[in-house]
Amino acid sequence: MARVRLSGLHKHYGALHAVRGIDLDIPEGEFTVIVGPSGCGKSTLLRTIAGLEHADQGAIEIDGEVVNDLAPRDRDVAMVFQNYALYPYMSVFDNIAFGLRARKFPRLEIDKRVAEAAALLGITDQLVRYPRHLSGGQRQRVAIGRAIVRDARLFLFDEPLSNLDAQLREEMRAEIKRLHRDLGKTMIYVTHDQVEAMTLADRIVLLRDGKIEQQGAPLDLFERPKSRFVAGFLGSPTMNFVPARLEPADGGLVVRFEGGSVLPLPPARVQAVMAHAGSAIIFGVRAEHISRANGTATREGLAPLDVTIDLVQPTGTRTYAAFNLAGTEVVAELEAHDLQGPGEQLTLQVDMNRVVLVDPSSDRVL
Ligand SMILES: Nc1ncnc2c1ncn2[C@@H]1O[C@H](COP(=O)(O)OP(=O)(O)OP(=O)(O)O)[C@@H](O)[C@H]1O
Ligand SMILES: [Mg+2]
Repeated sequence: MARVRLSGLHKHYGALHAVRGIDLDIPEGEFTVIVGPSGCGKSTLLRTIAGLEHADQGAIEIDGEVVNDLAPRDRDVAMVFQNYALYPYMSVFDNIAFGLRARKFPRLEIDKRVAEAAALLGITDQLVRYPRHLSGGQRQRVAIGRAIVRDARLFLFDEPLSNLDAQLREEMRAEIKRLHRDLGKTMIYVTHDQVEAMTLADRIVLLRDGKIEQQGAPLDLFERPKSRFVAGFLGSPTMNFVPARLEPADGGLVVRFEGGSVLPLPPARVQAVMAHAGSAIIFGVRAEHISRANGTATREGLAPLDVTIDLVQPTGTRTYAAFNLAGTEVVAELEAHDLQGPGEQLTLQVDMNRVVLVDPSSDRVL
């Protein structure tokens, strides 16, 4: 197991500043997911930790030792790549054993480790086969097997599931999570898929343009995003954002939209944003925090909103209903049988306890 600490890390590719000052402390045994849009520097950061790229500035410490000048093979780190590049003319066994043979492990030890890894990954009966005869998911397991036989202190995964279909991804996701539980090793996992990040991580590090935008436990980021970027990146469907104004009313505050709709802010939330009374804001609400008003149950903070539904997308369990609010299309996640169809007028309720208010000039959540 390993503790990883990055401080003041920078990496340039010529004029391109790919990693811009990363400070990160990863405790032993933690599953950290680095997530962010394409090109934000995730792979570069991971490759720098592995030693496949050289940091221009800053320190990489593993277990208290600065490893910047250690060759990749001396860092005791195993990496699984997105394109898992198995050797086509080697059997599954030989693919998994390759790294051990290169390190001159004794034969019996190799046999033992390969057998253990194969059992853990459920590919024992595939060991004599060749990669071309395997499914995508089986190949992915071989690639992971190749990494875990080395028994490295730190595991790095770069989008290992992105070549798989949706169902296999879900299966492998659960398998990787189980693997982490069973091995107890420190793992750093890169993905651009926010669902993968939410489901796998002990901690999410959300990267934007080579910098950390926010880090924390998945639910922490989901429920307390610090910026519009974080709020919009996590969650599906994407959070709805609508320009509005924050206005004083009856000693409290309301969110007022162009066209006249008004949503009062619950008293408990007023004080924190009072200083912004009279300002333009961006109102953010997740689809699941808009429901059908049932007339009776009025919990504090549920604000009614009259809408005309213009698009209905059933998923089976839930139905996504789109309507126009102040010129912006907003999606609500309703119960499957809440709706007749497009054109319907109905009263929804917005859970104002859960909405975010964003300062449009800084994109920070108020
Ligand atoms: N070897 C390289 N030479 C020059 N520029 C590079 C190199 N590798 C990456 N870059 C650039 O550095 C930036 C970060 O790339 P990186 O591969 O780390 O992004 P990423 O977050 O992994 O993206 P993706 O989700 O698409 O894999 C990008 O602008 C990319 O074009
Ligand atoms: Mg990448």
